[in-house]
Order: sequence, then C-alpha cells, then structure tokens
Amino acid sequence: MAILAKTPPMGFNTWNTFGPDINEQMVLEMADVMAEKGYRDAGYKYVVIDDCWSLRERDENGNLVADPEKFPHGMKYVGDYIHGKGLKFGMYSCAGIRTCAGYPASFDHEYQDARSFASWGVDFLKYDFCYFPSFANCQHRYLTMAQALRASGRDILFSACNWGVQEPWNWMRSVGAHMYRSTGDIVDNFASTSHIMHSQMGNFNANASGCFNDMDMLTVGMAGQGFVGREDCNNYAEYETQFAFWCFTAAPLMMGADLRKVSEEYRTLLQHKELIRLNQDPECRPPYKVREDNGYTVFIRHLADGEFAIGVFNLHQDPRHAEITFAELGVPVNAGVKLALTDVITGETIAPKKDDLFVAVPGHSCKIYRARFVRDRKRY
Ligand code: GLA
Repeated sequence: MAILAKTPPMGFNTWNTFGPDINEQMVLEMADVMAEKGYRDAGYKYVVIDDCWSLRERDENGNLVADPEKFPHGMKYVGDYIHGKGLKFGMYSCAGIRTCAGYPASFDHEYQDARSFASWGVDFLKYDFCYFPSFANCQHRYLTMAQALRASGRDILFSACNWGVQEPWNWMRSVGAHMYRSTGDIVDNFASTSHIMHSQMGNFNANASGCFNDMDMLTVGMAGQGFVGREDCNNYAEYETQFAFWCFTAAPLMMGADLRKVSEEYRTLLQHKELIRLNQDPECRPPYKVREDNGYTVFIRHLADGEFAIGVFNLHQDPRHAEITFAELGVPVNAGVKLALTDVITGETIAPKKDDLFVAVPGHSCKIYRARFVRDRKRY
C-alpha cells in the first residue's frame, strides 16, 4: 500500500459552492476543468463529493446507496471517469449516525461503508462529526474508520473532520488520519478567514508529513457566489492572503469555488507556482511564529535545501510597517552570512542583506519571502 499525504493533499470539494445541490454532471465537468485548465498539472488531484450524495435510507442489506436522481450511473461510474482524467476520487461520510445534512452515516457501519467506498474506486474519504452519540468515544471511532479504510484493500486518504473537538492535533495523526479539520466551517468573507487564521496561528506543530492541519476548504475565487458565498466576500488581496496563508502553513489545499466559472485572475492565483511549491515543500516542516505585533504576525518556516520562508501577515484593515530584524529569525549580524530574499508572490529579488528588512504590508495582506543563506565576506 502507498504512503499517503506525504505533502499536503490538494483538490476540489463540492461543499463551498454547491452545498446540497450536487449531481453527476457537475462533478464530471469539474474533473474536466481540473484536467484541462491546468489545475491537475499544478498539483490538484482529488475531486471530492461532500454531503448529500446518498439516498435518505440504506438498502435492505444496510448499504449506502447513491441517489439515482443525482448520480444516475452510480458512484463507480463517477470514480472511473475521474480516474480517466488522471485525478483521484473523494467522497464523504460522517462518524455519527447521520451526516450533517441528515443522510445515513457510518456509525457502527464503518467496515461495511469502507468496503462500499473501496468498491467504487474511492481514494479519499472526508469524515464528518455530526449526530455523534454522546455515549460513544470520538477518538476510538476515528480509529475504527481509519482501520476500516486500511482493511478495505484500497489506498484511501482519511480526511477527518471533527472541527477541532478534543484537540485533534494531539491524536488524529496517531489514530491514522491524513488530515484533521481544526476549525469550524469557513464562509466566503475575511471575517471568517481571519478568524480561522487567528485560531491556528500557534497551533501548527503537529502539522507535518503524513497528517496535516486542515483549516477548511478555500473560498478563493468564489466571489460571493455559491453555498458559503457572502455579500461581503473577500476581495483580491484578501483571497491572496487566504491562499498564501494556507500555502505558507502547509495546509491542505481543497478548492471550493466553481472551477468552471472562476475568473482568470483567480485561476492564476490558485495555480501560483511558487506559492504551491512552498505549500508542497518536501521537508514538510510546520511554521514557527516569531512574533505577533501591533496587528501583524511574523512567521518563519524551514524548507528543504537549507532555505526558509518568512511570512508577514497583516490581518488589520490598515497598512502596517514591519521591521524584521534578522536576529529575531535566528540570524544575528555577526553570523557571517547574509540573506538573499525572493518575494514569493511577485518574484522580485532583494540583494543579499544581513541586518533587517522593512516591509510595508497593506491591510488584509501579506508578504512572503524565500530566504537563502549567502556567505558574508566581511567577518567579525
Ligand atoms: C459540516 C462540515 C462541512 C460540510 C458540511 C456538510 O458542517 O464541517 O465542511 O461537510 O458538514 O453537511
């Protein structure tokens, strides 16, 4: 069996835009767009069908059944189509007795459902937490589904979604999940995005290869449309900040916008090569929060090949001027090295320096640099 989630999982999920209103044609079209419009080649692999795909009741043998009106050819057909596009197939269930939208869920049906998913060619299971019986043990039920998936005979990435209940960063990796939702549901405005960002800023240490901190699906490019769309939706800078934060912190990148309609500027943002390279850095180290100051936050993150990233996030509405001394990043002036910096978003380079960096960060924006050590001729 393969080792899954070596780097943060990337894909598309139906919930943010479509909510309960999903169907076969839309899912197949999304797979087409992912293959044809550069998403697959940028690294997005999973096409995930969220809640509301099944009938309201199991069949006489206790099996989950796809709603034949929404998915007339059944789920194996959908999986085959997605695989034919060089993509992977994701589905959804829940650890409770019903899904959040009230459909049958996998409590006490873990092995039976895992076998159904495997028989449909499923490669990814998002596993929610609604209607979870108060007498049951949450950690044990996630362990049970992790085992059921492993016993199913198929490599199925386990995306555990319990919204941060019982501090999943302390145990989801151990029970076998490949990513764990650490937050409640995102909606498409900056209040929601920045609330999620704040809630996780000091909480990335467990985020590493094999199991990643999932801050929920991206709203980038939704532009107010769709199920979690809002009138006060993010503007370009705010979407860029969301995408950059998810990339900087090595969070899973699950897109939620209708990819058939996303504008060119957001398609370009979602496929930003250098931000995705940062997200997928093979060393998979979590970020370190250096300082929170007057409304902005400074992080570093070690990367492969001796490089590191510097992130300055300003969640305030007003601009901030940040002075970052290299000493606070662990590189004092007498270190005998300078830092060569590249702006990850714009591609601009800054000549090697050894003292500090002044950055002006507009409201709701960020600056991200990739830093490389350069030997300083002048020694102390
Ligand atoms: C919960 C999850 C969401 C989505 C819905 C579906 O709210 O957190 O991501 O899956 O259920 O009903």
